[in-house]
Amino acid sequence: MSSTMNSIAAPHGQTPGNSHFDPEKGWTAAQLQALRAQFPILAETIHGHPLAYLDNAASSPMPLSVLQAMQEFEQHQRANIHRGVHSLSQRATDAFEQARATLKNYLGAGPEHELVFTSGTTEALNQVAYGLWGAGPEQAWLRPGDDIIVSGLEHHANLVPWQHAARISGARLRILQPDAQGQLHLDDLAALLATGRPRVLALTACANATGECPPYAAMLSLARQAGALTVLDAAQVAAHGLPRLQALECDFLALSGHKMHGPMGIGLLAGRRQALEQLYPLRLGGDMVEHVSYQQARYAGLPARLEGGTPNVAAAVGLAQAARFIEATGHAAIDAHVRALRAQAVQGLSAIAGVRVLSPQASAAALVSFCCEGVHPHDIGTLLDERGIAVRTGHHCAQPLLEHLGLGPTTRASFALYNSAEEVERLCAAVAHAVKVFQ
Ligand SMILES: Cc1ncc(COP(=O)(O)O)c(C=O)c1O
Repeated sequence: MSSTMNSIAAPHGQTPGNSHFDPEKGWTAAQLQALRAQFPILAETIHGHPLAYLDNAASSPMPLSVLQAMQEFEQHQRANIHRGVHSLSQRATDAFEQARATLKNYLGAGPEHELVFTSGTTEALNQVAYGLWGAGPEQAWLRPGDDIIVSGLEHHANLVPWQHAARISGARLRILQPDAQGQLHLDDLAALLATGRPRVLALTACANATGECPPYAAMLSLARQAGALTVLDAAQVAAHGLPRLQALECDFLALSGHKMHGPMGIGLLAGRRQALEQLYPLRLGGDMVEHVSYQQARYAGLPARLEGGTPNVAAAVGLAQAARFIEATGHAAIDAHVRALRAQAVQGLSAIAGVRVLSPQASAAALVSFCCEGVHPHDIGTLLDERGIAVRTGHHCAQPLLEHLGLGPTTRASFALYNSAEEVERLCAAVAHAVKVFQ
């Protein structure tokens, strides 16, 4: 390993770290500045204003150490993996497998778990849904008359693949409906599980459109007791508040690298080996087979079985470095920081006449979604952008949920470890201004 890699792997000196963090006071100004300096893109100016990047729930920037780790791979290790006897291929394979090991550790996986690289949460969830019917009616997990339960809070990525799975397999899609405030209830899940033949529960750890955080640990546990396979969409908790996989009754967990300060185009599907072995591979071809004849193929074991084709190795290396960066900064510290910013934003936005904050009680979320009476979110987003504030507007790929709540598009601000109280103040002031201008 080169000296550059050594310094990348040990960013403790450049980040606040757990030991310095006082949850009452948060990070000091100097600590926050040191953290921000790790993310070059935060120094951009937008329309003459310093960028306030509050779109982290969509994609979060990468720190220098991630950029450097990827560059190191491309400059000194790049070759195709698993198939070569030459030294460079071996280096690349080692880097890829080391990334897998680092990320298993980041997730709190146990010996009963395996981790498969995907292009993101969407591919991971598609792999699970397809994998449960793809083997055909004789062998697949899903059979006609089975029940697939999907929560009503889901991103389209955790709904549309299940709609298709139900259509093809003959299973029934049942929605665990949120109440009028967008909250899920254990009793409602218990009632769904008590009837029919529950075979799958697909649930988010945090709804990207509202910030609602359902009691997912208890829900996964209940569903497993009823014999269902459990699927957790962890995309919105990947950078903070990620539960330990070993502590969950979770068969499949999906997340995206670009939502946890890693590169785009990489994500992962982690889960219990036994459950992953149920999945029919989404991608057939090289690297996922043991033996092939003209007529048939014997597939390889996990994880190769679900990783057909050449993976994005540099991105896997970058994602592992992002996990190290988060760990070095401190999970608990990041979680406390983003929660505090969310609470500040909820308070500030709720105080503006005509603004309705969704799921205000969802204190574990790092995002806040809101509507302004009589003002279209795109107008708010545009006005905020003029002041250098980046937020997301629209349906957030969760149209059924917003329709269920009787809402249209919303504006969403989302926070990460480098955001500041001052940026939240700018957000609230700019929203108050937008409401005045447009109402
Ligand atoms: C909760 C949730 N699930 C799934 C996705 C899809 O992630 P990706 O586009 O990275 O596959 C997102 C992205 O916003 C999300 O927020």
